[in-house]
Amino acid sequence: MKDPLPIVVLVSGSGSNLQAIMDAIAAGELPARIQAVISNRPGVRALERAQHAGIATEVVDHTAYDSREAYDQALMAAIDRHRPALVVLAGFMRILTPEFVRHYRGRLLNIHPALLPRHKGLDTHRRALEAGDTEHGATVHFVTEELDSGPPIVQARVPVRPDDTPETLAARVLEKEHRIYPLAIRWFAEGRLRERDGRAVLDGRPLDEPVVVDP
Ligand code: GAR
Repeated sequence: MKDPLPIVVLVSGSGSNLQAIMDAIAAGELPARIQAVISNRPGVRALERAQHAGIATEVVDHTAYDSREAYDQALMAAIDRHRPALVVLAGFMRILTPEFVRHYRGRLLNIHPALLPRHKGLDTHRRALEAGDTEHGATVHFVTEELDSGPPIVQARVPVRPDDTPETLAARVLEKEHRIYPLAIRWFAEGRLRERDGRAVLDGRPLDEPVVVDP
């Protein structure tokens, strides 16, 4: 069997996606090893979750740096010490510099709580409700220099209900996130998923549209 894929996970908050990834690894469903979990914020739940699982944690606090460039340099240095084959953004709430993105091109994944290209940026659940969307969801994509615009890999969709609030909708979407993020990482770890010429390629087939996981 191949060695597990070394990954570094970047977090800023609750870390429920991190938990889903750790659970999938523990269940033998994801051939990866988390070398470190790095947060830009101290004291967040994601760090506790990692420590509880015996995973190395680090805080690279953005408030200690004068510029985005200086911060991203420090972050890259912290990540690269662990020699990851893949860097996983799991609720990492920072805009990344072009230099950072270029450095990890093809080995940097993000999960976004919307059906990209709809609702890039923040506050996606409220915006989906305000737009009257009947369907909402989450997307895993390779990260490129343009915010939330990299090649999509996999999407999960949920219905929007008439009585939804941003919170109820977020909870429904999050459940799906926990399914599709370990799945996309597994494809990458198994060598089935790559980025080529600005497109995700799965099993040798360039994806014009993301794979849609059944509701
Ligand atoms: C998730 O919903 C994730 O999609 C979102 O933050 C939440 C993190 O939750 N990410 C973004 O909005 C990125 N722009 P978690 O910390 O419990 O995994």
